[in-house]
Amino acid sequence: MLNLNISYDTKAYEVQPELNGQGLLTAKCAQQICRVLDEHGFVILPNLQTDEEANSGLKLVKDAIADPARERGDFASQTDILHQRRDFCPLPSTPDVLSYASLLCKRLENVLLEYCGRTRKVLEISTMTSYQGSSHQYIHRDPDGVLCMFSAVDDVSIEQGGTVFVPGTHKYSGAELKHEGKAGVFTTLFQTLSNFYVLRHNLKKVLHMRKTGEPEISKQEFHDRIFSKRYDNHQPNLANFFMRRNDLFDIFSLLPHKLLKLFMNRKYINENFFLVQTAPKKGTVILYRSDMLHAGPDNQSTKPRFFFGMSIARDVIFDEEWRNGYAPHTSLLAEPKSLGDLLSC
Ligand SMILES: [Fe+2]
Repeated sequence: MLNLNISYDTKAYEVQPELNGQGLLTAKCAQQICRVLDEHGFVILPNLQTDEEANSGLKLVKDAIADPARERGDFASQTDILHQRRDFCPLPSTPDVLSYASLLCKRLENVLLEYCGRTRKVLEISTMTSYQGSSHQYIHRDPDGVLCMFSAVDDVSIEQGGTVFVPGTHKYSGAELKHEGKAGVFTTLFQTLSNFYVLRHNLKKVLHMRKTGEPEISKQEFHDRIFSKRYDNHQPNLANFFMRRNDLFDIFSLLPHKLLKLFMNRKYINENFFLVQTAPKKGTVILYRSDMLHAGPDNQSTKPRFFFGMSIARDVIFDEEWRNGYAPHTSLLAEPKSLGDLLSC
């Protein structure tokens, strides 16, 4: 049988930060962080911030989502945003936002400079809040060549939905030679299998919500989450699945020859690919390479999940790609910032 392996044990991906007298990571610790990031595509850094520092990040997030005039991000499910299940918004380049972003960058300077030069663009600084009843994203990759950072400004439990990653699926020169030269084939098969489970999970969940009212769901939202024809790559939806309006998973993903390939390779996939779901404590920072397979799970708790996020380019980026692939605040677009700017402010 085909199974979807999910591990909640994140020890292999964690590095305990060691700071020097200036509050920067020691060279030895930075090297260990880079080793984990290079091997698995992501790394978890518990206690990188004090409670006070995380609180200042949490205040930024709460202030932002309390502002009715806030800008809205288009890098999350638009259906979830429409029905107040998620609130992803780009943060303006205010002194407080830049100061918190700068604090994180300075502490991680030894690591960030390994991947991103000082002149590389800060692509977005944003909040990522999810509420009970949100949908589970499809497993996907973000645009190539970016280093992303999630800062847990509050405790995140498994039920609240810490990000899931598929270790070792990031892209680099020769990565396709892994798995006996079939890395591309196997990762695509695993992504298809995972997304079948994600679609099934979301449909079951929406039906359960409609039946039990836990949490409550309106007729309009129920309709939108199953039948809406609106393009929404992040919202697993039955209509988009059958009408092929989703780039990640649709009816063609389950053509007989693809299912046969999945079945024939089930043993290898089950033994070599799995999802890791994180549950970062307050003060933790997660770094991940944008091109690895990952997803934002649904929030199954009554408590909102708060993240502060930042993405920094590892290479030059065409302006149109920047605007389309990320959600920079208009103030960041008007006055772009580089990693060097954040390290020196
Ligand atoms: Fe993503």
